[in-house]
Amino acid sequence: MNPSIEKLATPGEIESLLIRARATASKAYAPYSKFSVGAVLVDRDGNEFIGCNVENASYGITLCAERVAGTAAISQGSRSWSKLVIVSPTGVSPCGACRQFLMEFAPALEIWFGGLDDSIPVRRASLSSLLPDAIAMSDLPSMRSS
Ligand code: THU
Repeated sequence: MNPSIEKLATPGEIESLLIRARATASKAYAPYSKFSVGAVLVDRDGNEFIGCNVENASYGITLCAERVAGTAAISQGSRSWSKLVIVSPTGVSPCGACRQFLMEFAPALEIWFGGLDDSIPVRRASLSSLLPDAIAMSDLPSMRSS
């Protein structure tokens, strides 16, 4: 099968991931921004990992939903990710830090982002289009064979 088709999902699949992401967003701890985000990361074996944003009185240590889902996946032995669905009040795409975090493990990731309900259209983008020319392990001299 054409690999570019394999990584796409059916509308039904995305619909059920949106439901799961919205349920996860309802668990967000966001008393400061009041901006609840939910994420579901799917790996190449079909395993799903969820995350919500977790804020803190020390603002800078806030965790984004995407990185919470990603660290859950890593902790459970999953490092090969194919899809990510994110929901938020305004349907934002992943922040810059999360793009770089995701790139470490899933440069071919496809991402769908939508709202907390169906009033905001769901958009799709590849991670590589959201973060072109990202730094990677191979850019570090210490990781190159001499
Ligand atoms: N946030 C996420 O969880 N993911 C994103 O992609 C965008 C931002 C969170 C961080 C913070 O808790 C709140 O949304 C407002 O920025």
